Amino acid sequence: MTETKPFLENAWYMAAWSHEVGEDMLRRRLLGEPILLMRRQDGTAVALVDRCPHRYAPLSKGEREGDTIVCPYHGLTFDAAGQCVRNPFSEKIPAARSCAAFPWSSATTSSGSGPAIPRLPKRRRCPIFPPS
Ligand code: FES
Repeated sequence: MTETKPFLENAWYMAAWSHEVGEDMLRRRLLGEPILLMRRQDGTAVALVDRCPHRYAPLSKGEREGDTIVCPYHGLTFDAAGQCVRNPFSEKIPAARSCAAFPWSSATTSSGSGPAIPRLPKRRRCPIFPPS
């Protein structure tokens, strides 16, 4: 059975005020999904599904190491694009271990006119828990 969500997909939604997103990982629920928001060290914002693709632990409960996030459960490490970049138990990065990253655009300007909204890329999906 296909899950139906009462949200428009492939559309822009407000996730947070700019001042709320900083060095600390911020957990939000958006469109029925847990979302992790944070800023990279260069100040650019990141939005990832807050669910480790391994055993679905919330990445926001893990620790940041620079611009990477260490999962609190088994320690897989993900970069700000949601790609697994380190496996503490092996040199091998597990295949297909990535978490969906969302495009991000700030609508905050001093002139009052918003920036151009970029086209949305085709959305990647993270596993739905519990698996159906
Ligand atoms: S649940 Fe994240 S590494 Fe296992």
